[in-house]
Amino acid sequence: MKTAIYPGSFDPVTAGHLDIIRRAAGLCDRLIVAVLHNQAKKPAFSPEERCDMLRRAVDGVPNVEVRMFSGLLADYAKQLGAETIIKGLRAVSDFEYEFQMALANRKLNPHLDTVFLMTSAEYMYLSSSIVKDIAAHGGDITGLVPDSIQDDILLRIRKEGNTWQR
Ligand code: PNS
Repeated sequence: MKTAIYPGSFDPVTAGHLDIIRRAAGLCDRLIVAVLHNQAKKPAFSPEERCDMLRRAVDGVPNVEVRMFSGLLADYAKQLGAETIIKGLRAVSDFEYEFQMALANRKLNPHLDTVFLMTSAEYMYLSSSIVKDIAAHGGDITGLVPDSIQDDILLRIRKEGNTWQR
C-alpha cells in the first residue's frame, strides 16, 4: 500500500480517530488525513480549525499529512494518486452506510478500494457528536480527545453551547 487517504469531518478529531490514524499510518507509506470542507453543513469548528487540531494531534507520526478537501472524495483521491481509502468501523450499524460509500467511490474511481479498520474496543461508543454533547453539558472529555486539543473544545463548546448542526 502506498498513499492512503483517511477522510472525515473530524468536528473535532477524537481519540478513536487518532487510534485509526496511528494504525493506518503503519500500513501505508503516506497517509493523507482529508478534512471535508462542506459548505452545506454548519460544523462546530471551521475547516481550518479542524485541520489545525488534527495537525497537533498527529504531531510526531512521520508519514501523516493533514489536508482539506471539498467535492468528491473519489476525485480528490485520484488527484493525490491514492488508491486506498481508510475507514474506521465502530459497530455493525456503521457497516451499511460505509459499504454503500465504498461501492460508490469504486464506481466513481475503479482504482479506489476501501480498507476498513475495526475500532479499538475502548472507542466503540465514541464520536465527535458525543464529545461535543458531553463538553456542552459540562462533562469530562479527558481521554476522549487528544490531550493537545482538549482545551480548544472546552473553550469553544462551553462558550458557544450546543449550537452545531449534526
Ligand atoms: O466523518 P464523516 O462525516 O462520517 O465523513 C464523511 C465523508 C467526508 C467521508 C463523506 O461525506 C465524503 O466522502 N464526502 C465527500 C463527498 C463524496 O465523495 N460523496 C460521495 C461519497 S459516496
